[in-house]
Amino acid sequence: MKAVVWQDTGKIAVQDVPEPRIQEPTDAIVRLTASAICGTDLHFIRGTMSGMVPGTILGHEGVGVIEEVGSEVRNFKPGDRVVIPSTASCGVCMPCREGNTAQCDNANPNGPEAGTAFYGGPKDSGPLDGLQAEKARIIYAHSSLVRLPDNVSDDQALMLSDIFPTAYFGADLAGVSHGKSVAIFGCGPVGQFAIISARLMGATRIIAVDQHQDRLDLAQQNGAEVIDFNQEDPVAVIKRLTDGHGVDCVIDAVGVDAQHAHGGPAKPDADELKEDRELVQQVAPDAHPDHGHWVPGDAPGQVLEWSVEVVKKGGQIGIIGVYSPDMTTYPIGKAMNKNLTLRMGNCNHRNYIPHLVDLVASGVVDPTRVISKQEGLTDAISAYEAFDQRQPGWLKVELQPSE
Ligand SMILES: NC(=O)c1ccc[n+]([C@@H]2O[C@H](COP(=O)([O-])OP(=O)(O)OC[C@H]3O[C@@H](n4cnc5c(N)ncnc54)[C@H](O)[C@@H]3O)[C@@H](O)[C@H]2O)c1
Ligand SMILES: [Zn+2]
Ligand SMILES: [Zn+2]
Repeated sequence: MKAVVWQDTGKIAVQDVPEPRIQEPTDAIVRLTASAICGTDLHFIRGTMSGMVPGTILGHEGVGVIEEVGSEVRNFKPGDRVVIPSTASCGVCMPCREGNTAQCDNANPNGPEAGTAFYGGPKDSGPLDGLQAEKARIIYAHSSLVRLPDNVSDDQALMLSDIFPTAYFGADLAGVSHGKSVAIFGCGPVGQFAIISARLMGATRIIAVDQHQDRLDLAQQNGAEVIDFNQEDPVAVIKRLTDGHGVDCVIDAVGVDAQHAHGGPAKPDADELKEDRELVQQVAPDAHPDHGHWVPGDAPGQVLEWSVEVVKKGGQIGIIGVYSPDMTTYPIGKAMNKNLTLRMGNCNHRNYIPHLVDLVASGVVDPTRVISKQEGLTDAISAYEAFDQRQPGWLKVELQPSE
């Protein structure tokens, strides 16, 4: 079968690979009908998340039809349509039962201390072969997979595999509720769903920050007040828009590939640029950009800094943008002295997906407006390149494994 395979930092390919097979009684084999490229995949190719094993199939967002189930999968049968949560979870360990399904003790083959098990990630996360493939082996299928009603399309369900639940989790972590003001950094797909989620949770004002006009335009259509950080200083503007107090809640939907301003009043001075370069060296020592592709963000700590600046005293920050374990810098002194609440993490997908399936099935949200491109799996590499370069219109790429 065909799959998108990570070969090295800056090097991926569509390859022929062996078909997956059932290895444990709780496994299922799913034939993918839709898969997606995510900002998280870019961290692996840019080298800002290290530890990838050559030969790993990429991808952690998928929808498909069950082809085969192990003997202990009692709630699904071949032919069932399902959405695959990006993270696998057993459903019975203590973290799973507390709702921390991304911290499952059993799903990660490296043991309970290894942390989140997810598809298409580095060695420490499994590695589990990913979903940018014609078929995938799903572990703990009985407690991970979520059945889809007929009136939820593949395109809609694909957004429920990772980015919508992650964004919803981010709004939850940031403490969004009725009447709150929220700043969201990043208007990529996760940022767009963070805006939608904050609205669902009753936020009154949503301020979204990015540097790409097409993404800011969609953010505005989704209900946000928008700031281009290359034109204006987001800290000064957010303070002004909130009478000097700052926002109640902040969601970081950017992560380690953050960039600093390249124009306007927020552009860093020489000392700040030097600090940014040192931090890039710390988090992405192996990066080797290729003709302008796979370039790591030039200011890994930028959104962490801005978040602490724009939140009110006693406010709350939810970090869902991914930071690698190599990142050890945080403005802890400023956060401590403002009595902030910080919450963060990998999305507990399995906890949120059933509720979001219901919201989509009942017509409350149509998540497909965030999908901007549909490509066959064999065109995945050019799609990755366009998405990596944030070419206008390349917001969220759906890959169709059968084409
Ligand atoms: N926690 C989780 O479980 C989880 C799950 C999925 C994705 N993620 C992470 O969420 C983040 C966003 O994912 P995505 O798919 O939307 O990625 P993306 O790369 O498409 O979008 C990131 C956006 O951030 C913008 N940006 C860069 N620097 C910025 C700055 N200083 N201020 C404001 N915006 C800035 C970029 O211009 C871009 O539009 C990634 O880090 C991804 O790894 C986390
Ligand atoms: Zn993702
Ligand atoms: Zn578990």
